[in-house]
Amino acid sequence: NNTPTALIMIFGATGDLAHRKLFPSLYRLYKKGRLTDRFAVLGVARRSLTLNEFQDSVKKSIVEFTGEQDGLDEFASHFYYQSHDVTDSSSYIQLRELANKLDEQYGLEGNRLFYLAMAPEFFGTIGDHLKSDGLTDTAGYKRLVIEKPFGHDFESAQELNNRLRQAFAEEEIYRIDHYLGKAMVQNIQVIRFANALFEPLWNNRYISNIQVTSSETLGVEERGRYYEKSGALRDMVQNHMLQMVALLAMEPPIKLNTEEIRSEKVRALRSLRPMSLEEVDQYFVRGQYDAGTIKGEGVPAYRTEPMVDPESNTETYVAGKLVIDNFRWAGVPFYIRTGKRLGSKSTKIVVQFKDIPMNLYYNKDTDEKLTPNLLVIHIQPEEGVTLHLNAKKSGSGMETTPVQLSTANQSIDRMNTPEAYEKLLYDSMRGDATNFTHWDEVALSWKFVDTISEVWENTKETTFPNYAAGTDGPQVADQLLEKDGFEWWPVENLEIDNC
Ligand code: BG6
Repeated sequence: NNTPTALIMIFGATGDLAHRKLFPSLYRLYKKGRLTDRFAVLGVARRSLTLNEFQDSVKKSIVEFTGEQDGLDEFASHFYYQSHDVTDSSSYIQLRELANKLDEQYGLEGNRLFYLAMAPEFFGTIGDHLKSDGLTDTAGYKRLVIEKPFGHDFESAQELNNRLRQAFAEEEIYRIDHYLGKAMVQNIQVIRFANALFEPLWNNRYISNIQVTSSETLGVEERGRYYEKSGALRDMVQNHMLQMVALLAMEPPIKLNTEEIRSEKVRALRSLRPMSLEEVDQYFVRGQYDAGTIKGEGVPAYRTEPMVDPESNTETYVAGKLVIDNFRWAGVPFYIRTGKRLGSKSTKIVVQFKDIPMNLYYNKDTDEKLTPNLLVIHIQPEEGVTLHLNAKKSGSGMETTPVQLSTANQSIDRMNTPEAYEKLLYDSMRGDATNFTHWDEVALSWKFVDTISEVWENTKETTFPNYAAGTDGPQVADQLLEKDGFEWWPVENLEIDNC
């Protein structure tokens, strides 16, 4: 069914996520004909707004974030609003009545998508009420789409999960990891499993190490209160970084369906070698940004950001080495790094192949060695794949020079590449949970990350702040690879447009 019908109930409908991502994504789906007229959006938030005010705010955000306004009035007429107290049953009862009315008015067959785009402390309470006040009691499907953070550690995540499971079955819970909606993250498995070229080499015989980098230029912005308790480890590593690693490391699924893909990802996460508390410092390092310059503009230190403790010990940067204990990956380190206020906004995966057994082209006089072959998967902002090879330099000699094969010029029409949220919303309406995280993945990721947070929370980092905004991050991250005889591949010089 390509044009699903549903009542989409958005909790947190006055918030940033709803305005920046959800309304524009729904609008694009509508414009593409992926939503028929049989849909309604019921916005829910604390603030009291009239229907007109709410619809106007929806239109405004669509114009701002898509630059379009075609058919906007008609689209916005599908939007409804109710001011709501998340702890009060009578609010839910009103909501149920409105939902039933909209079901009938739009012929929605009782299909309901509850989207929690708000502060995580209310996730459990909302789940309880949706059931006890009869909103989940519906003739059609009921699905819960839930934003991160899913818990703060394994224990709280498990508690939340058990609570939500009172109202929704596992297959009705769609845990968002927006990286899984990115076109090039989805492409990892296609590159691996649709090419004869890579899969035979995708193991410890040919790959020396894999580096996953997600660097941001933005700082913590207005999210100091959340970020102080989260840090880069919980904010990025527990979810996005480990999800990318799982996709890179997993075995080929026997079929491309949700269960098979997830179960291979779970197996990959299960193969992550757990660290003892004593080992954490050997495998993971952290950083915090100081004042610096980004794109020519001075930016403040993390410790002086709004709602941040002036002596904060929270990390804004993490680099780590993951060891995957299975036949395929024994001996191949997976390095990850992510941080805020770095020199560029870029997410990239570099697969470094082993050196060839003997270099016939080695020149003693210049001491020039062959560049290893690299497969670079550009996740964002550019999208595509580059293969770094060696070829003969022009001229009469046999000197070598690095060359690149790239998909840059044949890449998909970027303007039409749907945003992650557009895809994920559409998937959740169609009931495709492949690009959402299963509880087993969440649990394993938290267990892995918990060991690191336990050590970091109990040891104050005395060198903070340890990197200036606008740089490549702290030196400790370089030392992490140097110990193994590797270096980080630069983010900037591996640009896809170089070729
Ligand atoms: C979010 C984090 O999950 O991902 C943010 O909470 C981070 O702190 C963001 O900035 C990065 O996403 P993207 O798509 O810009 O790489």
